[in-house]
Amino acid sequence: MEYRYLLLEKKDGILLVRIHRPEELNALNADLLSELDCAMAEASAEEEVRAVILTGEGKSFVAGADIACMSTMDPVEAKAFGSFGAEVFRRIEIMEKPVIAAVNGYALGGGCELAMACDIRIASTKAKIGQPETSLGITPGFNGTLRLPRLVGLGRAKEIILAGETLDAAEAYRIGLFNKVVEPEELLDTAWELASKIVSRAPLAVRYAKEAMNNSMESGFEAAMAMEANLFALCFATQDQKEGMAAFLEKRKAGFSGK
Ligand code: COA
Repeated sequence: MEYRYLLLEKKDGILLVRIHRPEELNALNADLLSELDCAMAEASAEEEVRAVILTGEGKSFVAGADIACMSTMDPVEAKAFGSFGAEVFRRIEIMEKPVIAAVNGYALGGGCELAMACDIRIASTKAKIGQPETSLGITPGFNGTLRLPRLVGLGRAKEIILAGETLDAAEAYRIGLFNKVVEPEELLDTAWELASKIVSRAPLAVRYAKEAMNNSMESGFEAAMAMEANLFALCFATQDQKEGMAAFLEKRKAGFSGK
């Protein structure tokens, strides 16, 4: 597919997706959301892609949902727009391959929500993240009220969302919203290095571990225990489990096939 708002680069099993809507600081309109959905579906389907890095071009990761588009919406249109964005982000969250957000600048509103739907967030010292929706007269609409409390705890999430706070990179790191903060010029290399490390592991084990952790945040403890036990057992049906353990015992590097 031809993309208007996305720039894609693929190398060594990693897909780099750059959001590129410079005049609006990468604000999300319905077309950009559709493109993102499509690019991630393609990444899911392509066997050679094993991890995705998502970043923004310019001084912004994503400066939120498009306020100009939202300003004239009625409640029915707003519900459709919110639900669509939330579904796109949910598909990113549960996709079988890991997704790393490389947060280069502003990640506000929908930008914060997109970063939170990714598995891991690496940020530049220039990043600013928050949920300013209450200052626009709305609530977060792409599941920020679900994911922020899970990531940073209910008290901190309430402070950020109710006060419409924007955090600098150091504060977002301190509360666990960012995994790591690096100098701007090191951002993509750092994200790439992490993605490469994940790509070097057994793909099915990575996929099942992601599924187990997502599931553990969304179900009761006993149900999550059962899910983990099943996914653990499933690994023993893979060639990679045999290869990984044989390689350890033979003191050599494992060569994983993803089977
Ligand atoms: N939706 C639509 N357009 C947006 C946007 C958004 N979320 N965020 C920025 N833009 C546009 C601005 O309207 C401006 O357009 P213009 O040049 O036609 O006037 C352009 O991007 C540049 O933004 P500007 O505000 O001039 O840049 P800045 O460096 O002074 O400030 C921000 C950057 C991110 C602090 C500021 O743009 C901002 O607060 N954006 C909205 C963030 C927000 O509330 N997001 C949640 C939405 S639910």
